[in-house]
Amino acid sequence: MILYPNASTQLYGIIGHPVRHSLSPIMHNNAFKKRKINAIYLAFDVTNLEAAIAGIKALGIRGLSVTIPHKEAVMKYLDDIDDMAKRIGAVNTIINREGKLLGSNTDWLGAVRALEEVIALKGKKVLIIGAGGSARAICIGIRDKGANVHIANRTISKAKSLAYLCGASFSGIDELNNISNDFDILINTTPVGMSPNEDKIIIDPKVLSNFKVVMDIVYSPVETLLLKEAKKRGCKTVSGLKMLLYQAIAQFELWINQLAPIEEMERALLEAINS
Ligand code: ATR
Repeated sequence: MILYPNASTQLYGIIGHPVRHSLSPIMHNNAFKKRKINAIYLAFDVTNLEAAIAGIKALGIRGLSVTIPHKEAVMKYLDDIDDMAKRIGAVNTIINREGKLLGSNTDWLGAVRALEEVIALKGKKVLIIGAGGSARAICIGIRDKGANVHIANRTISKAKSLAYLCGASFSGIDELNNISNDFDILINTTPVGMSPNEDKIIIDPKVLSNFKVVMDIVYSPVETLLLKEAKKRGCKTVSGLKMLLYQAIAQFELWINQLAPIEEMERALLEAINS
């Protein structure tokens, strides 16, 4: 007998545009099922953000993930925003607390947790390539964990602003190959290497042996050329899929107030990506 969805089913979801490629429904629905929670998670392709946010309240949607292009614009429609999301300047999670919408950010947590699985961050020297929204969340998160950060970006003015905000040093990407011997960890936050441009790499592979750990936020393909080359040279590697997984786990735990079924969510994610 099917007991749910039924009249008590709680609704969660993701808003973005486009959103049909999102892997979040697969992760969260499998997590709800594993934990026997009467809830479903749907993807909403949203262009009218203000109306969508009013809809959360009107329909009693319990929580939402927020993705591109709404992570910054959504902030002005929420009732409260936690400190970390304020510092990052972006919300990727909305929690509906009895009709009041709270904005939070779990992207930084996803990156920090994925990295901390392989290396302690305190005192480490980290080279971040890119200075967009993802770099910002990651930089603030790992600075809080006591790492020293250098930002290298194609547009140097953006590297400078982010470095100023996070207490990091900065340069253009043209200097990457010269400075790389000074770091423990490399993180690529640019889309370079993303399918269908899988043959692209942001840094000369020869310098990768300088790093202990190399992380890519690109997760399609799961093992980017950057990660393949890093692995060949003996580095530990962290795939973008881990960051995606751990930011979703943090969302589940914010919404549901119980531990997320990590293995189940990872299994569902890998199955979806390989299908
Ligand atoms: P996200 O939210 O994922 O961080 P974003 O804000 O668009 O996305 O940022 C993308 C980052 O990747 C930027 O730092 C961008 O560099 P610019 O600031 O010069 O635009 C960087 N980037 C994108 N394509 C790149 C490429 N082909 N080579 C080098 N850097 C690239």
